[in-house]
Amino acid sequence: MAVNVLFVCLGNICRSPTAEGVFRALVEDRNLSELIVTDSAGTAAYHIGNPPDRRSQQAALQRGIDISDLRARQVKPEDFHHYHWILAADHQNYQDLKQIQQSVTNPSANLAMFLDFGKHEIDEVPDPYYGGPQGFDQVLNLCQNASEALLEHLFQKHPELRQL
Ligand code: 4NP
Repeated sequence: MAVNVLFVCLGNICRSPTAEGVFRALVEDRNLSELIVTDSAGTAAYHIGNPPDRRSQQAALQRGIDISDLRARQVKPEDFHHYHWILAADHQNYQDLKQIQQSVTNPSANLAMFLDFGKHEIDEVPDPYYGGPQGFDQVLNLCQNASEALLEHLFQKHPELRQL
C-alpha cells in the first residue's frame, strides 16, 4: 500500500505546491512514485483551481522542478483518513488543521510541521506571497532540506519502502 503525503499551507499556490514539487522530484529520482503519493492543499479557499503562483513556478523551474501541473484545492476532513502524513507549513496552518482533525472521527493521519523534518534555523516556512524573490528562494531551500529528511523518516517508519 502506498504512503500518502499531503503538504498544506494557506493558499496552496506558494509554499505547499513548492513542497509537493520538491518532494515529488525526490520520490521520482528514487523510483518510488508508486509507493509514495504526494498532494498539497490550502486551509483557505481563495485560490481553488489555480496553478501555483508564477514566482513559485519560476523559482522551482530554476532548480529543474516543474510544478506547473499542480492546481490548488482546499483541505477537507476526509484528508485525515486518506493521508498518512499531513504536513503544515506554519503554525497557523497547523492550528487550522488541528481543528479539522478534532472534528473527524478516527483520523488516521499523522499531523506535523513540515520543518520538524531536518535541521533549520526557523520552525515554519515563511509566507513569500507579499515579499520579494528571495522569499521564494528561501522557501525552496527549506523545502529541499526538509524533503530529504522527510524521505529518510519515511524509510524508517515504513519499512516496506526499503524493499526496492
Ligand atoms: P501560500 O501563500 O499559503 O504559501 O500559498 C499565500 C498565497 C495567497 C495568499 C496568502 C498566502 N493570499 O492571501 O491570497
